[in-house]
Amino acid sequence: MSASDRIHLAFDLSFTHTEGRWALPGGWNGYDYYPDPRFYQDMARLAERGRLDMLFFGDGTGIPDTWEGSRDGAVRWGIQWPRHDKSPLIPLMAAAAPNVGFAVTFSPTYMHPYYVARLLSSLDHLTAGRVALNLITSTRLSDAANYGFDALMEHEQRYERAEEFAQVCMELWDSVSPDAIVLDPETGVFADPDGVHAIDHHGDYWDVRGPLNCMPMPQGHPVMLQAGQSDRGIQSSARYAEMVFAGGGNLDYMRRHRELLDGYLVEEGRDPRDVGILWSTQVMLGESEAAARAKLSALADQLPLESGGVYLAHNSGFDFSTLGPKFTLGEAAAAIEAAQGTKSGFIHRLMAVEGPDYLMSLDELQERGRVGMLGVESAICGTAAQVADQLQELHENTGANGGFMIQGACGPNPRTLTDVVDLLVPELQRRGIYRTEYEGTTLRDRLTS
Ligand SMILES: Cc1cc2nc3c(=O)[nH]c(=O)nc-3n(C[C@H](O)[C@H](O)[C@H](O)COP(=O)(O)O)c2cc1C
Repeated sequence: MSASDRIHLAFDLSFTHTEGRWALPGGWNGYDYYPDPRFYQDMARLAERGRLDMLFFGDGTGIPDTWEGSRDGAVRWGIQWPRHDKSPLIPLMAAAAPNVGFAVTFSPTYMHPYYVARLLSSLDHLTAGRVALNLITSTRLSDAANYGFDALMEHEQRYERAEEFAQVCMELWDSVSPDAIVLDPETGVFADPDGVHAIDHHGDYWDVRGPLNCMPMPQGHPVMLQAGQSDRGIQSSARYAEMVFAGGGNLDYMRRHRELLDGYLVEEGRDPRDVGILWSTQVMLGESEAAARAKLSALADQLPLESGGVYLAHNSGFDFSTLGPKFTLGEAAAAIEAAQGTKSGFIHRLMAVEGPDYLMSLDELQERGRVGMLGVESAICGTAAQVADQLQELHENTGANGGFMIQGACGPNPRTLTDVVDLLVPELQRRGIYRTEYEGTTLRDRLTS
């Protein structure tokens, strides 16, 4: 899949209502509370007006409970919960917006490939070829507990499973040839058995006979996405992803990710140009940079300190409250790794800047989590021209191959998406670096044109 050098835009709808966003003006006003489908249909219409490539739904299946071994903080403050399965919303949104694409997330650590391959096939039909599948390796203890595990599966093993999972799905999607569908009313022949074959997969993790009991998909298979940030995660994306999600905002970090990915792609015999990166980027538009950032700080101030600890512990797969009042980043990183948590989360990223001897207090960690959760420091803030300047610079300095997964910094509510669509998109279009009309019909067409 060879991306054009234009900027592609996706918008992250994973957390429309949590982390205090449910109470924001311009958020859920006029809708029943989460998960009112009218809200999502309006977001799809907005995205389409902005000619966005796709809307993204991340996923997680537990209520955060890593912090102090309790779910109380997450429940009390609405941190990353509630969280429904978003796949049933996709056909409703697709009907409201006939061009935009939809990315949905599943975890090979817990899910079965046959179920996911069949579901994605059904969604690709219902959207006429506009779905993407994001495979994640699950670093969250509360997810693990819901699938019968009391600890995280080993990091390497999670990636081996993800690779085998992707392979099984691909084999299933290929198991019914488009030519096999005959539909001849004269003879009554529905399909040619020669074009429908078992896959007889016997791997380390799954045995799947196949074939898939579905019609061939409009896209052949969904656009494959991957969001691993560790070296092993990046290597895995080079094996099967068509588009990658990566942490954005910091040029050095982004360049390193791009270089690592390119190296692994070459090792896999693939052309680096064929795999774009959508950089996850928090954006806040306002009359000026200072005004936009002030809005974010005000929102963060409304959240209690504890919410930052709940958030970081959940996403790292490690309970930082066990470290005592003060610890070095090196000690924290070692403890996370011993717990099989993420090797590329907040602590590892900070350690790359401050070094392993940086001494941190538990209060500082919670504060950093609280402001980090809303992108107070990392968000690209300012007028449409200022934000477009920064996005353009980041895009050009990372090989102009992909674009951005926009996260409305104060939440992906209609107001933030409206700002992106009505202010930022016209600015990018004026610069000739963003589409003015959709080209092609499938999501893959959009991502490559
Ligand atoms: C844009 C983006 C979206 C992600 N979405 C999810 C998600 O929905 N659910 C999840 O559990 N992890 C998500 N992740 C985390 C990664 O998939 C991955 O699990 C994490 O980086 C840990 O893997 P690693 O140890 O290889 O870094 C996301 C990461 C990025 C950058």
